Amino acid sequence: MRRSSVPDRRCTAFAPGRVNVIGEHTDYNHGLAMPFAIAEGVTVRAAALADDGEPLIEAIAIDLDERDSFPLERPGPAEGWRAYVHGAVAELGAAGHRLVPARLEITGRVPLGSGLSSSAALTVALCLALLELGSDHADAGGRSLDRIALARLCSRVENEWAGARTGLLDQIASLFGAAEEAMCIDFQSLDVEPVPLALEGWRFVIADSGERHVHASSGYNERRRECAEACGALGIESLREASLEDIAALPEPLERRARHVLEENARVLEAVDALRAGAIREVAELLSASHASLRDLYQVSTPAVEATVERLLRAGVAGARLIGGGFGGSVLGLLEPGLALPAGCIEVAPGPGAHILAR
Ligand code: GLA
Repeated sequence: MRRSSVPDRRCTAFAPGRVNVIGEHTDYNHGLAMPFAIAEGVTVRAAALADDGEPLIEAIAIDLDERDSFPLERPGPAEGWRAYVHGAVAELGAAGHRLVPARLEITGRVPLGSGLSSSAALTVALCLALLELGSDHADAGGRSLDRIALARLCSRVENEWAGARTGLLDQIASLFGAAEEAMCIDFQSLDVEPVPLALEGWRFVIADSGERHVHASSGYNERRRECAEACGALGIESLREASLEDIAALPEPLERRARHVLEENARVLEAVDALRAGAIREVAELLSASHASLRDLYQVSTPAVEATVERLLRAGVAGARLIGGGFGGSVLGLLEPGLALPAGCIEVAPGPGAHILAR
């Protein structure tokens, strides 16, 4: 039975996807990364439903023309985009947030599985909308929210409900984005430091490898297990505590995995310094060094990704690398001032973090 909506309780929430400039597979190793939120993201239009029967959540994925409906109090397991809606409702409820029956209309412009973090954008937008609708005060989805706590909650949705053991990179990037800025995230302290993106005519471009990745079934979880195994062998909590000397004696492939993480953390710091100094060509070189490490040490590239990197380099980008978990997805390149956008690429620029668009 379709419920009527309650006209005075509506809101629209937006959460962006992200581009990770550098710092890949470091988040769940308590390392460093430098992402920025992009202009593209997911929008959730929410309307409270009349409370005249069993409280329900109705969700509509407009772009897919698919629907879902489930009891507010008992979200069960689900697949695909529905897993994120069920998970968001369940985790917000478990954390003690007040939720109301609602209809949620989801639209999005982040290509699914492309490495631009469509799933975090979806989860964050859903949570902001549900919090706003359920709140008695005016600023539920606004600045007073504890955004690190919300990032953790959204990450639980990904881990427990979608089955991907991802870290906090995507959620923090989506929640802390700001126009004209990247951010340096320290995943040990969870400090998020703004890094101005003054590119002086250089442009970040994205090319889709055409290969879709699904974290839960890809090698992502396996890489995560390997890092945990390396920590177990070294008797430490996270790879942040290890030095290059410490890891030298690890058996392969653990040594290679750990070396990628340690050297990638160092590259993040170098890239932050280079950006601050306006040395953009150096940033481009660090992108290529990161890619070589992801391909050779972390081994998360694929032939389709390699072909995409080659294509971008041939088209004149000064540095390129796969972004996100790997095993498909997108490639990021840095294009020198004055060069034309290579065919099949889109330009990406930093945009604002997740927010309520309308109440
Ligand atoms: C995916 C995950 C992130 C992060 C990256 C790799 O995007 O969602 O948590 O681990 O892969 O850096």
